[in-house]
Amino acid sequence: MTLRRLSATSFRNLQAVDIELSPQLNIIYGDNGSGKTSLLESISILSLGRSFRSRKYKHMIQHEAEDYTVFGQVECGGTAIPVGINRHRNGQAVIKMGGKNCSSAAQLAETLPIRIMNGHSFQLLEGGPVERRKYIDWLVFHVEHEFYQAWRSYEKCLKQRNSLLRRDKIDPLLMAPWDREIALLANRLDHFRHSSFRLLETVFKQLISEFEGLKGVRLSYYRGWDKDTDYSDLLLQHLDRDRELGYTRQGPHRADIRVLVEKQPAVELLSRGQQKIVVSALLIAQGMVFYETRKRGCLYLIDDLPAELDARFRSQLAEWLSRMETQIFVTGVEKNILLDAWRTAGKLPDSHRVFHVKHGAIQQEGAEINTVPL
Ligand SMILES: Nc1ncnc2c1ncn2[C@@H]1O[C@H](COP(=O)(O)OP(=O)(O)O)[C@@H](O)[C@H]1O
Ligand SMILES: [Mg+2]
Repeated sequence: MTLRRLSATSFRNLQAVDIELSPQLNIIYGDNGSGKTSLLESISILSLGRSFRSRKYKHMIQHEAEDYTVFGQVECGGTAIPVGINRHRNGQAVIKMGGKNCSSAAQLAETLPIRIMNGHSFQLLEGGPVERRKYIDWLVFHVEHEFYQAWRSYEKCLKQRNSLLRRDKIDPLLMAPWDREIALLANRLDHFRHSSFRLLETVFKQLISEFEGLKGVRLSYYRGWDKDTDYSDLLLQHLDRDRELGYTRQGPHRADIRVLVEKQPAVELLSRGQQKIVVSALLIAQGMVFYETRKRGCLYLIDDLPAELDARFRSQLAEWLSRMETQIFVTGVEKNILLDAWRTAGKLPDSHRVFHVKHGAIQQEGAEINTVPL
């Protein structure tokens, strides 16, 4: 699964983009404010239907323009799938895939799975469980096909239960069928998450073991309620407390992946540099498990790599990325720093492309490298 061509109009500060991409490594460099993150953002829109930077689509429409369009040609097992998104200031959105209207973000994500590494990635350690649930669920979504539907059903039932909890009087006859359904779904979600977690944990452990000072770092899965209690029993036991609160306190909606050193949160003990390695290993492990189970690669969007990682670890990351079939988009101010990361690792692919971003204009460098002499 690779993005072979990207075009964008009236997107942020970018001047009409139309570029052919390397299926392996795309290096994007330019001064601060030139439009590098915007370019990655346009790619993320093809996968998520929204940006990783902002939920406000209006911010992405170029000042003084009425709408933006992002279009991509995705190559999937020899066939090309066109994906396009147009968003207007008046709120109208048209999303098309393979020539048909597409209304599901899940379908976009399935066609173009991406992972993003940027300053925000530290939220995996510093942020609350929400970030880490998103983290595990990205993998579960891609690995367990029934997860998405089960999750949606669970959310629906939970909402119903919570609204019943807020009523003055609870009719146990009304509550019972919801509790039964919720318990069924909760156990399924836990099962899906737990099996993805185990795969993730194994790969993460291997990656982290390459660093002397990080051997004690481990992951632990919390399913959202006590591991020894049956979920149906728990709902009954805590009915009074949940009524007081007006919502269901425990369940898969409270699950978490804890990153620990022995028994303490890693964020409390590790240096900033070590945290960067752990966060990178977490994100690489996802791609590796995805690659092993789906036999296809995902895209990595890595924003401002040198700002986040030192030279030694940059090449380690390049090496990790080279262990799976993945399409990489990496940005930075200086191109040589980026090229060096892959060179030092001995992994610079012949097909790599370098793009220079200058005041919103994107130019491919050394295009002749990719032309075949007649
Ligand atoms: N909707 C918009 N229309 C025009 N320019 C924008 C819009 N949104 C942001 N910008 C500008 O785009 C520029 C590029 O930002 P960014 O992609 O973050 O640059 P970089 O990542 O290269 O530092 C910034 O100067 C910003 O002010
Ligand atoms: Mg940027």
